[in-house]
Amino acid sequence: MDRILKGFIELNKPLVEKNLKEHINEIAGPSILKQSMWYSLNAGGKRIRPLLLLAVLKVFDKKEGEGLPVASVIEMLHTYSLIHDDLPCIDNDDLRRGEAANHKVFGEAVATLAGNALNTLCFGILARMQHISDKNKIELIDLLSKAAGVEGMIGGQILDIQAEGQQLTLSELENIHINKTGALLRFSVEAGAILADTTEEQRAALRAYAYHIGLAFQIKDDLLDINGTTETLGKTAGKDLINDKTTYPALLGLKDAEKKLQEHYTYAIEALEQITMKDSLLHAFAKYILDRNK
Ligand code: IPE
Ligand code: IPE
Ligand code: MG
Ligand code: MG
Ligand code: MG
Repeated sequence: MDRILKGFIELNKPLVEKNLKEHINEIAGPSILKQSMWYSLNAGGKRIRPLLLLAVLKVFDKKEGEGLPVASVIEMLHTYSLIHDDLPCIDNDDLRRGEAANHKVFGEAVATLAGNALNTLCFGILARMQHISDKNKIELIDLLSKAAGVEGMIGGQILDIQAEGQQLTLSELENIHINKTGALLRFSVEAGAILADTTEEQRAALRAYAYHIGLAFQIKDDLLDINGTTETLGKTAGKDLINDKTTYPALLGLKDAEKKLQEHYTYAIEALEQITMKDSLLHAFAKYILDRNK
Protein backbone atom coordinates (compact mmCIF):
# COMPACT_ATOMS: atom_id res chain seq x y z
CA MET A 1 0.00 0.00 0.00
CA ASP A 2 1.06 3.57 -0.72
CA ARG A 3 3.15 4.90 2.20
CA ILE A 4 1.18 8.13 2.65
CA LEU A 5 -2.15 6.29 2.55
CA LYS A 6 -0.83 3.78 5.08
CA GLY A 7 0.14 6.61 7.44
CA PHE A 8 -3.25 8.26 6.89
CA ILE A 9 -5.10 5.04 7.75
CA GLU A 10 -2.93 4.34 10.81
CA LEU A 11 -3.70 7.80 12.12
CA ASN A 12 -7.40 8.03 11.32
CA LYS A 13 -8.75 4.51 11.77
CA PRO A 14 -8.35 4.61 15.58
CA LEU A 15 -10.07 8.02 15.63
CA VAL A 16 -13.07 6.62 13.75
CA GLU A 17 -13.19 3.62 16.08
CA LYS A 18 -12.99 5.82 19.18
CA ASN A 19 -15.80 8.00 17.81
CA LEU A 20 -17.94 4.92 17.10
CA LYS A 21 -17.49 3.74 20.67
CA GLU A 22 -18.43 7.15 22.07
CA HIS A 23 -21.66 7.16 20.08
CA ILE A 24 -22.64 3.69 21.29
CA ASN A 25 -21.73 4.52 24.90
CA GLU A 26 -23.92 7.62 24.74
CA ILE A 27 -27.16 5.82 23.95
CA ALA A 28 -29.49 4.59 26.63
CA GLY A 29 -31.43 1.40 25.98
CA PRO A 30 -31.54 -2.36 26.46
CA SER A 31 -28.06 -3.66 27.07
CA ILE A 32 -28.44 -6.71 24.79
CA LEU A 33 -29.18 -4.41 21.86
CA LYS A 34 -26.18 -2.20 22.58
CA GLN A 35 -23.99 -5.29 22.96
CA SER A 36 -25.14 -6.66 19.64
CA MET A 37 -24.63 -3.30 17.87
CA TRP A 38 -21.16 -2.90 19.34
CA TYR A 39 -20.21 -6.52 18.64
CA SER A 40 -20.44 -6.02 14.87
CA LEU A 41 -19.10 -2.46 14.85
CA ASN A 42 -16.08 -3.55 16.85
CA ALA A 43 -15.39 -6.73 14.90
CA GLY A 44 -12.69 -5.07 12.84
CA GLY A 45 -13.77 -3.88 9.42
CA LYS A 46 -11.40 -2.12 7.06
CA ARG A 47 -13.31 1.16 7.62
CA ILE A 48 -12.88 2.06 3.95
CA ARG A 49 -15.99 4.23 3.72
CA PRO A 50 -15.33 6.51 6.71
CA LEU A 51 -11.66 6.77 5.73
CA LEU A 52 -12.63 7.74 2.22
CA LEU A 53 -14.73 10.59 3.57
CA LEU A 54 -11.85 11.77 5.75
CA ALA A 55 -9.47 11.47 2.79
CA VAL A 56 -11.67 13.87 0.78
CA LEU A 57 -11.47 16.37 3.66
CA LYS A 58 -7.70 15.96 3.82
CA VAL A 59 -7.28 16.47 0.07
CA PHE A 60 -9.26 19.72 0.32
CA ASP A 61 -7.23 20.91 3.33
CA LYS A 62 -10.06 20.60 5.84
CA LYS A 63 -9.68 19.22 9.34
CA GLU A 64 -10.48 15.49 9.33
CA GLY A 65 -11.91 15.83 12.86
CA GLU A 66 -14.88 17.75 11.49
CA GLY A 67 -15.89 14.71 9.46
CA LEU A 68 -15.75 12.19 12.30
CA PRO A 69 -19.47 12.05 13.17
CA VAL A 70 -20.41 11.55 9.51
CA ALA A 71 -17.60 9.00 9.16
CA SER A 72 -19.03 7.05 12.10
CA VAL A 73 -22.51 7.25 10.66
CA ILE A 74 -21.34 5.72 7.38
CA GLU A 75 -19.62 2.87 9.19
CA MET A 76 -22.75 2.24 11.29
CA LEU A 77 -24.95 2.17 8.23
CA HIS A 78 -22.55 -0.17 6.46
CA THR A 79 -22.29 -2.43 9.52
CA TYR A 80 -26.07 -2.67 9.75
CA SER A 81 -26.11 -3.70 6.07
CA LEU A 82 -23.60 -6.46 6.80
CA ILE A 83 -25.56 -7.79 9.81
CA HIS A 84 -28.65 -8.06 7.64
CA ASP A 85 -26.71 -9.34 4.59
CA ASP A 86 -25.50 -12.30 6.67
CA LEU A 87 -28.95 -13.31 7.95
CA PRO A 88 -30.19 -16.74 6.86
CA CYS A 89 -32.94 -15.07 4.82
CA ILE A 90 -30.40 -13.07 2.79
CA ASP A 91 -26.89 -14.52 2.23
CA ASN A 92 -26.88 -16.95 5.15
CA ASP A 93 -23.29 -16.34 6.24
CA ASP A 94 -21.87 -17.52 9.56
CA LEU A 95 -18.65 -15.53 9.57
CA ARG A 96 -18.09 -11.80 9.33
CA ARG A 97 -15.04 -9.66 10.02
CA GLY A 98 -13.25 -12.70 11.36
CA GLU A 99 -15.93 -13.39 13.98
CA ALA A 100 -19.17 -15.32 14.16
CA ALA A 101 -21.91 -13.39 12.32
CA ASN A 102 -24.11 -11.29 14.59
CA HIS A 103 -27.12 -13.64 14.39
CA LYS A 104 -24.90 -16.60 15.31
CA VAL A 105 -24.10 -14.93 18.63
CA PHE A 106 -27.27 -12.98 19.44
CA GLY A 107 -29.91 -14.84 17.43
CA GLU A 108 -31.79 -13.65 14.38
CA ALA A 109 -34.27 -11.45 16.22
CA VAL A 110 -31.66 -9.42 18.09
CA ALA A 111 -29.41 -9.23 15.02
CA THR A 112 -32.27 -7.89 12.91
CA LEU A 113 -33.18 -5.32 15.56
CA ALA A 114 -29.54 -4.31 16.13
CA GLY A 115 -29.31 -3.61 12.39
CA ASN A 116 -32.49 -1.52 12.53
CA ALA A 117 -31.19 0.33 15.59
CA LEU A 118 -27.87 1.17 13.88
CA ASN A 119 -29.75 2.42 10.84
CA THR A 120 -31.99 4.81 12.77
CA LEU A 121 -29.17 5.94 15.06
CA CYS A 122 -27.34 7.26 11.99
CA PHE A 123 -29.99 9.84 11.19
CA GLY A 124 -30.16 11.07 14.78
CA ILE A 125 -26.39 11.56 14.89
CA LEU A 126 -26.51 13.55 11.66
CA ALA A 127 -29.36 15.71 12.95
CA ARG A 128 -27.54 16.46 16.22
CA MET A 129 -24.16 17.33 14.70
CA GLN A 130 -22.56 20.48 16.04
CA HIS A 131 -20.67 23.02 13.92
CA ILE A 132 -22.41 21.99 10.70
CA SER A 133 -24.87 24.34 9.03
CA ASP A 134 -28.52 23.27 8.94
CA LYS A 135 -28.36 23.39 5.15
CA ASN A 136 -25.50 20.90 5.04
CA LYS A 137 -27.13 18.67 7.66
CA ILE A 138 -30.36 18.44 5.72
CA GLU A 139 -28.48 17.70 2.53
CA LEU A 140 -26.48 14.94 4.24
CA ILE A 141 -29.60 13.39 5.78
CA ASP A 142 -31.43 13.49 2.46
CA LEU A 143 -28.48 12.05 0.52
CA LEU A 144 -27.90 9.25 3.04
CA SER A 145 -31.54 8.30 3.09
CA LYS A 146 -31.43 7.96 -0.69
CA ALA A 147 -28.06 6.18 -0.78
CA ALA A 148 -29.05 3.67 1.88
CA GLY A 149 -32.62 3.14 0.76
CA VAL A 150 -34.82 1.96 -2.06
CA GLU A 151 -33.01 4.09 -4.64
CA GLY A 152 -29.63 2.87 -3.39
CA MET A 153 -28.31 0.09 -1.19
CA ILE A 154 -31.58 -1.61 -0.28
CA GLY A 155 -32.77 -1.41 -3.86
CA GLY A 156 -29.52 -3.09 -4.91
CA GLN A 157 -29.79 -5.76 -2.22
CA ILE A 158 -33.28 -6.68 -3.43
CA LEU A 159 -32.07 -7.00 -7.02
CA ASP A 160 -29.10 -9.07 -5.81
CA ILE A 161 -31.41 -11.51 -4.01
CA GLN A 162 -33.80 -11.74 -6.94
CA ALA A 163 -30.90 -12.41 -9.31
CA GLU A 164 -29.84 -15.60 -7.50
CA GLY A 165 -29.81 -18.41 -10.02
CA GLN A 166 -30.67 -16.05 -12.87
CA GLN A 167 -28.70 -15.19 -15.98
CA LEU A 168 -28.29 -11.40 -16.04
CA THR A 169 -27.00 -9.06 -18.71
CA LEU A 170 -23.89 -7.07 -17.90
CA SER A 171 -25.89 -3.87 -17.52
CA GLU A 172 -28.32 -5.56 -15.11
CA LEU A 173 -25.41 -6.77 -13.02
CA GLU A 174 -23.79 -3.36 -13.16
CA ASN A 175 -27.02 -1.83 -11.90
CA ILE A 176 -26.95 -4.15 -8.88
CA HIS A 177 -23.35 -3.21 -8.04
CA ILE A 178 -23.98 0.52 -8.55
CA ASN A 179 -26.71 0.34 -5.94
CA LYS A 180 -25.96 -2.34 -3.36
CA THR A 181 -22.35 -1.26 -2.88
CA GLY A 182 -21.77 1.83 -4.98
CA ALA A 183 -24.43 4.02 -3.39
CA LEU A 184 -22.83 4.12 0.06
CA LEU A 185 -19.33 4.61 -1.36
CA ARG A 186 -20.66 7.50 -3.45
CA PHE A 187 -22.27 8.95 -0.33
CA SER A 188 -18.94 8.70 1.53
CA VAL A 189 -17.16 10.76 -1.10
CA GLU A 190 -20.02 13.19 -1.67
CA ALA A 191 -20.44 13.81 2.05
CA GLY A 192 -16.74 14.72 2.08
CA ALA A 193 -17.38 17.16 -0.77
CA ILE A 194 -20.26 18.77 1.14
CA LEU A 195 -18.23 19.14 4.32
CA ALA A 196 -15.23 20.44 2.38
CA ASP A 197 -17.37 23.02 0.56
CA THR A 198 -16.03 22.08 -2.84
CA THR A 199 -17.11 23.75 -6.05
CA GLU A 200 -19.81 22.10 -8.15
CA GLU A 201 -17.19 21.08 -10.69
CA GLN A 202 -15.07 19.39 -8.04
CA ARG A 203 -18.10 17.68 -6.61
CA ALA A 204 -19.16 16.31 -9.99
CA ALA A 205 -15.66 14.93 -10.58
CA LEU A 206 -15.60 13.37 -7.12
CA ARG A 207 -18.97 11.81 -7.81
CA ALA A 208 -17.61 10.26 -11.01
CA TYR A 209 -14.55 9.04 -9.12
CA ALA A 210 -16.78 7.45 -6.48
CA TYR A 211 -19.03 5.86 -9.08
CA HIS A 212 -16.07 4.02 -10.57
CA ILE A 213 -14.38 3.03 -7.33
CA GLY A 214 -17.80 1.79 -6.18
CA LEU A 215 -18.04 -0.55 -9.14
CA ALA A 216 -14.38 -1.52 -8.78
CA PHE A 217 -14.96 -2.26 -5.09
CA GLN A 218 -17.72 -4.81 -5.69
CA ILE A 219 -15.95 -6.41 -8.67
CA LYS A 220 -12.94 -6.88 -6.40
CA ASP A 221 -15.22 -8.25 -3.65
CA ASP A 222 -16.59 -10.79 -6.16
CA LEU A 223 -13.05 -11.72 -7.27
CA LEU A 224 -11.88 -12.11 -3.70
CA ASP A 225 -14.84 -14.38 -3.00
CA ILE A 226 -13.26 -16.72 -5.56
CA ASN A 227 -9.53 -16.06 -5.10
CA GLY A 228 -9.35 -15.19 -1.42
CA THR A 229 -9.26 -17.43 1.61
CA THR A 230 -11.78 -17.47 4.45
CA GLU A 231 -8.93 -16.83 6.88
CA THR A 232 -7.71 -13.65 5.17
CA LEU A 233 -11.15 -12.36 4.21
CA GLY A 234 -12.69 -12.96 7.63
CA LYS A 235 -15.84 -14.09 5.80
CA THR A 236 -16.67 -17.34 4.02
CA ALA A 237 -14.83 -17.57 0.70
CA GLY A 238 -16.66 -19.24 -2.18
CA LYS A 239 -20.02 -18.16 -0.83
CA ASP A 240 -21.25 -16.57 -4.07
CA LEU A 241 -21.04 -19.88 -5.90
CA ILE A 242 -22.88 -21.65 -3.07
CA ASN A 243 -25.63 -18.99 -3.16
CA ASP A 244 -25.74 -19.06 -6.98
CA LYS A 245 -25.06 -15.31 -7.17
CA THR A 246 -24.53 -13.59 -10.46
CA THR A 247 -21.18 -11.84 -10.10
CA TYR A 248 -18.72 -10.28 -12.53
CA PRO A 249 -16.45 -13.33 -12.60
CA ALA A 250 -19.47 -15.64 -12.90
CA LEU A 251 -20.75 -13.66 -15.87
CA LEU A 252 -17.53 -12.67 -17.63
CA GLY A 253 -14.92 -15.10 -16.35
CA LEU A 254 -11.98 -14.17 -14.13
CA LYS A 255 -9.88 -12.53 -16.82
CA ASP A 256 -12.54 -10.19 -18.14
CA ALA A 257 -13.71 -9.37 -14.63
CA GLU A 258 -10.12 -8.30 -13.81
CA LYS A 259 -10.16 -6.21 -16.99
CA LYS A 260 -13.38 -4.48 -15.93
CA LEU A 261 -11.83 -3.79 -12.55
CA GLN A 262 -8.83 -2.11 -14.24
CA GLU A 263 -11.14 -0.11 -16.51
CA HIS A 264 -13.08 1.34 -13.59
CA TYR A 265 -9.84 2.15 -11.78
CA THR A 266 -8.67 4.07 -14.86
CA TYR A 267 -11.97 5.97 -15.13
CA ALA A 268 -11.75 6.86 -11.44
CA ILE A 269 -8.27 8.30 -11.92
CA GLU A 270 -9.39 10.19 -15.03
CA ALA A 271 -12.20 11.78 -13.01
CA LEU A 272 -9.62 13.12 -10.54
CA GLU A 273 -7.52 14.45 -13.37
CA GLN A 274 -10.50 16.46 -14.63
CA ILE A 275 -10.05 18.66 -11.59
CA THR A 276 -6.26 18.68 -12.00
CA MET A 277 -5.74 16.44 -9.04
CA LYS A 278 -2.53 14.47 -9.35
CA ASP A 279 -1.08 11.71 -7.23
CA SER A 280 -3.34 12.44 -4.24
CA LEU A 281 -4.55 10.37 -1.34
CA LEU A 282 -7.64 9.62 -3.44
CA HIS A 283 -5.47 8.14 -6.19
CA ALA A 284 -3.84 5.91 -3.59
CA PHE A 285 -7.25 4.93 -2.24
CA ALA A 286 -8.40 3.79 -5.67
CA LYS A 287 -5.25 1.71 -6.05
CA TYR A 288 -5.78 0.18 -2.62
CA ILE A 289 -9.33 -0.87 -3.55
CA LEU A 290 -7.89 -2.57 -6.60
CA ASP A 291 -4.95 -4.28 -4.90
CA ARG A 292 -6.44 -5.28 -1.56
CA ASN A 293 -6.44 -8.92 -0.51
CA LYS A 294 -9.36 -8.59 1.92
C1 IPE B 1 -18.16 -5.81 2.32
O1 IPE B 1 -17.65 -4.54 2.55
C2 IPE B 1 -19.53 -5.71 1.76
C3 IPE B 1 -19.59 -5.11 0.43
C4 IPE B 1 -20.25 -4.03 0.21
C5 IPE B 1 -18.95 -5.76 -0.69
P1 IPE B 1 -16.17 -4.34 3.11
O2 IPE B 1 -15.22 -5.18 2.30
O3 IPE B 1 -15.87 -2.89 3.19
O4 IPE B 1 -16.27 -4.98 4.56
P2 IPE B 1 -15.59 -4.54 5.95
O5 IPE B 1 -16.28 -3.29 6.37
O6 IPE B 1 -14.12 -4.34 5.71
O7 IPE B 1 -15.87 -5.69 6.86
C1 IPE C 1 -23.07 -6.95 0.24
O1 IPE C 1 -22.58 -7.58 -0.88
C2 IPE C 1 -23.53 -5.59 -0.03
C3 IPE C 1 -24.18 -5.03 1.17
C4 IPE C 1 -24.07 -5.50 2.37
C5 IPE C 1 -25.01 -3.88 0.98
P1 IPE C 1 -22.01 -9.05 -0.61
O2 IPE C 1 -23.09 -9.96 -0.14
O3 IPE C 1 -21.18 -9.45 -1.78
O4 IPE C 1 -21.02 -8.76 0.62
P2 IPE C 1 -20.19 -9.87 1.39
O5 IPE C 1 -19.35 -10.56 0.34
O6 IPE C 1 -21.17 -10.76 2.08
O7 IPE C 1 -19.35 -9.05 2.32
MG1 MG D 1 -25.12 -10.05 -0.28
MG1 MG E 1 -23.00 -11.38 1.50
MG1 MG F 1 -19.34 -10.54 -1.64
